[in-house]
Amino acid sequence: MDLNWKHFIVAETSEGVFIGCAQLKTHQDKSLEVASLAVEDAFRGQGVARALIEKLITQSPRPLYLMCRPELGVFYERFGFRVIGVEEMPPYFLRMLRVIKVFVFLIRREGPLIMRLD
Ligand SMILES: CC(C)(COP(=O)(O)OP(=O)(O)OC[C@H]1O[C@@H](n2cnc3c(N)ncnc32)[C@H](O)[C@@H]1OP(=O)(O)O)[C@@H](O)C(=O)NCCC(=O)NCCS
Repeated sequence: MDLNWKHFIVAETSEGVFIGCAQLKTHQDKSLEVASLAVEDAFRGQGVARALIEKLITQSPRPLYLMCRPELGVFYERFGFRVIGVEEMPPYFLRMLRVIKVFVFLIRREGPLIMRLD
């Protein structure tokens, strides 16, 4: 998945304990994706994800894209992201969506949302 530590930002306590991360990925089609957002269980609900997303958004050009589970759509809308249809998707997300749709069909789940921030 082309993971590179240089693309990550991390949140940590004042003692240097890791509490969360997120990254900005640049795909071959040049689209930018906010990805790998995760906060340790014990630190959730305290604004850590908000701080990570706001940091990435502030330092990134637009548009920004992300892919998420349907139940997290409301969460990302708070930051200005909106759900987009296939007509607005860069090639990378169209490809990913095609692959994921087969998978979610097999496990009888709802497909992911692709969202965009302008
Ligand atoms: C989703 C996740 C990153 C949220 O982290 P967090 O640090 O608890 O989030 P925050 O405390 O910064 O919440 C920011 C806001 O979003 C809301 N929020 C948090 N989790 C939410 C959820 N699952 N659904 C809807 N809203 C949510 C909070 O209520 C908060 O609202 P407020 O600003 O009005 O208080 C965290 O639960 C997690 O790591 N989950 C597992 C990994 C994951 O699903 N990552 C997303 C991949 S797309």
